[in-house]
Amino acid sequence: MSATAEPTVAAAIVLAAGEGSRMKSSTPKVLHEICGRSMLAHVLTAVSGANPDRVVVVTGTAREQVEAHLTAIAPDAIAVFQATQDGTGHAVRLALAALDEGNGGPIEGTIVIAPADTPLLSAASMRILATHRANTHAPGLMLSAIVPDPAGYGRVLRDRWSRVKRIVEHADATEAELEMKEINSGVYAFDAAKLRTALAQLTTANAQGEEYLPDVVRILVKAGEPVGAALIDDWREVAGVNDRVQLAQARALLRDRIITGFMRDGVTIFDPFTTWVDVGVVLEPDCVVLPNTMLSGHTSVAAGAVVGPNCVLRDTVVGAGAVVRDATCDGAVIGPSATVGPYTYLRPGTRLGRGAKAGGFVEMKNAVVGDNSKVPHLTYVGDATIGERSNIGAGTVFVNWDGVDEHHSTVGDDVRVGSDNMLVAPVAIGDGAYTAAGSVITEDVPPGALAVARGRQRNVSEWVSRKRPGSAAARAAAAASGAPASPVSGADGEPRTVSDESQGDAS
Ligand code: UD1
Ligand code: CA
Repeated sequence: MSATAEPTVAAAIVLAAGEGSRMKSSTPKVLHEICGRSMLAHVLTAVSGANPDRVVVVTGTAREQVEAHLTAIAPDAIAVFQATQDGTGHAVRLALAALDEGNGGPIEGTIVIAPADTPLLSAASMRILATHRANTHAPGLMLSAIVPDPAGYGRVLRDRWSRVKRIVEHADATEAELEMKEINSGVYAFDAAKLRTALAQLTTANAQGEEYLPDVVRILVKAGEPVGAALIDDWREVAGVNDRVQLAQARALLRDRIITGFMRDGVTIFDPFTTWVDVGVVLEPDCVVLPNTMLSGHTSVAAGAVVGPNCVLRDTVVGAGAVVRDATCDGAVIGPSATVGPYTYLRPGTRLGRGAKAGGFVEMKNAVVGDNSKVPHLTYVGDATIGERSNIGAGTVFVNWDGVDEHHSTVGDDVRVGSDNMLVAPVAIGDGAYTAAGSVITEDVPPGALAVARGRQRNVSEWVSRKRPGSAAARAAAAASGAPASPVSGADGEPRTVSDESQGDAS
């Protein structure tokens, strides 16, 4: 092998069996999500950077849940079960034994190891670590870091020539050792044979009564097999997550990394601190993201679009030049130059065409709105197809549910649905048709027709002066008609009786 060749990495071992008791959670620690992926998924992405022939994940706590997740995200990974959490060294020993067994004999080459609770680890660092180990033929190499708060981490102890001597766990360290600022990241690359020999010598004689993987370093060094510690440039990559405080810190760090990347690529982000973007999101250069916005899942925003303020978008496609503000969108497709918001809820199956509008207090579900059609105000569109250039009046409801089943409605091109319509599905409104305000449309409307489906208006003259004498309304009415106001009820003796049908309005 040439000195700079990309090495073959026999296997990557990811440790995910721990209890994660400091999380105080019914969800296994490694399944907690940051920026749209479980921590385990982030670490699996990172170790793939070392291009390993096989990936082994050690499972233990909540085995079924973790293994089901693993099948979903990395079906090729091999799960190795650690029945009792006897330490990181024990976990690696089981993983290596399983690899040897699967190989039909001792596996050779480089083994990289990472904990599943270090979600910011990058694929590039894993590649560098593996390449460096192979090219230098070092028995072992680990990533170390200077972190702002080393509490809880193992410390790297070096001799007077700066060579790594051993790692001391926080729980076992003396006051003087705790002063050491260089920490063990828990990420290593070892020669398989040397790792195997050292693992066989681990004991549980320590504060936690566990087989510590970092003890492998001391064992190798003592046997004259030097282990290097490569100080990582950016400590944030190896920030470990043991509790919810560190989970929030890791999430903020990853958010910063994602958002910084987009800003460098030409996306305007007004307020990085209130903008959350998942790893799977695509933002094209020259789109704008305004404050208080969360973009998750497979959301994408095209050039020239403006999203925010106050938007929550999941699995939503925003077309070029669209404007989306104060909106919650889930599984929606928003066409180019379309406008959404404010206070709009687009649910799965919503597709807005080019230049279409879903305005204030509008909810849509399973609704296709054609190019340049507008649903401007206070409307529910469920299970409907609307053609092009149509307008749906304020306060309209597509009545899609009969209490048992949902039904579909169709509105043609260039239609004008009046305000406050109930379109009782299934119903079709033909091209160019109008419906009168306040209509309850239960039957199809032919193209070009005007549908009027409401009670005819009837005015009962002088009703107020007779039924509400002396009221402010009666005085206003009298002033408007130029007549003197009728006296207060009872002032001239008997109240007047009215025989007209009253409108019976509630008081
Ligand atoms: C570990 C290291 C510490 C290092 C730190 C970096 C040990 C003993 N200590 O400490 O030197 O600074 O990581 O973040 O390794 N796990 C198993 N089986 C077990 C125990 C743990 O699979 O029996 C897994 C956990 O799920 C976790 C990882 O190993 O993903 C690390 O275990 P954890 O208990 O978090 O170790 P730390 O105390 O953080
Ligand atoms: Ca940890």
